[in-house]
Amino acid sequence: MNATQRANADQIALWNDTAGRAWVDRQESLDRLFEPFEELLVEAVARSKAQRVLDIGCGTGSTTLAVARQVGTKGTAVGLDISEPMIALARERAERENSQARFVCADAQTYAFDAASFDLVISRFGVMFFDDSVRAFANLRRATTKGGELTAIVWRSPADNPFMTAAERAAAPFLPEIPKRRPDEPGQFAFADRTRVQAILEKSGWTEIAIEPLDVACTLPKHELDDYVSRLGPLGRVLSQLDERKRAEVLDTVRTAFAPYVHGDEVRFTAACWLAKARA
Ligand SMILES: C[S@@+](CC[C@H](N)C(=O)[O-])C[C@H]1O[C@@H](n2cnc3c(N)ncnc32)[C@H](O)[C@@H]1O
Repeated sequence: MNATQRANADQIALWNDTAGRAWVDRQESLDRLFEPFEELLVEAVARSKAQRVLDIGCGTGSTTLAVARQVGTKGTAVGLDISEPMIALARERAERENSQARFVCADAQTYAFDAASFDLVISRFGVMFFDDSVRAFANLRRATTKGGELTAIVWRSPADNPFMTAAERAAAPFLPEIPKRRPDEPGQFAFADRTRVQAILEKSGWTEIAIEPLDVACTLPKHELDDYVSRLGPLGRVLSQLDERKRAEVLDTVRTAFAPYVHGDEVRFTAACWLAKARA
């Protein structure tokens, strides 16, 4: 296995195991947290008048389901994700709300989409995990009709998003084994560098590329904070392997690091993102 294949295998393993399960268990809470982004994407669908929408890295399906409600029964809303547990929940939700949304469990880099079968490709934090991003975006462009659009929301840098890395920074002195975030690797911050994102989209054949900062106020109930930090991100992956005493010790320190974000019963932070748009 070469380095590229390994990176992809690592992501497949992660999203089918710890990360995927953490997102499934926290579906309602995460969807509430990231609802402002869902609204933004639904507005993008309405504005574009797209009828056939593809949601990449759709996870447990919230944005795809919202888009399905927007396009109605004459339209198509397809969510694609590499995580079996997340897609299983997305399908369950579609059935529960009698939605026409369809879900595909596959790798967006290699899935054989019908050519020109979508008017719009959207994503809420689902396109930063590819080992070969140019290949992935070229595949998505082929799936998009000529003149069709891409609207993807991705994270800016860890420095712009101190809330997102507060837990691992606070825990680092206790847990040197926490995986370090590397800007050149697939992961949450892989699209932090705007120039890199521009180059990826250009090389994969997209045009009229516009990448603008998007700052969104996010809130989470204070009582969900412990669960949030102990199950998600690099710290979440390590904490589950610790004994109870050590876990409690680390969590105490981590809680202190979040104090600046706690306002009464609420945790507030700004999500610093890019809104990347392009045309096929
Ligand atoms: C941060 S989650 C976002 C999930 C969802 N968009 C949301 O906002 O709730 C990232 C998602 O990207 C998916 N993903 C990672 N690599 C992928 C790939 N190569 N093809 C399709 N999906 C992928 C993961 O399984 C995960 O569900």
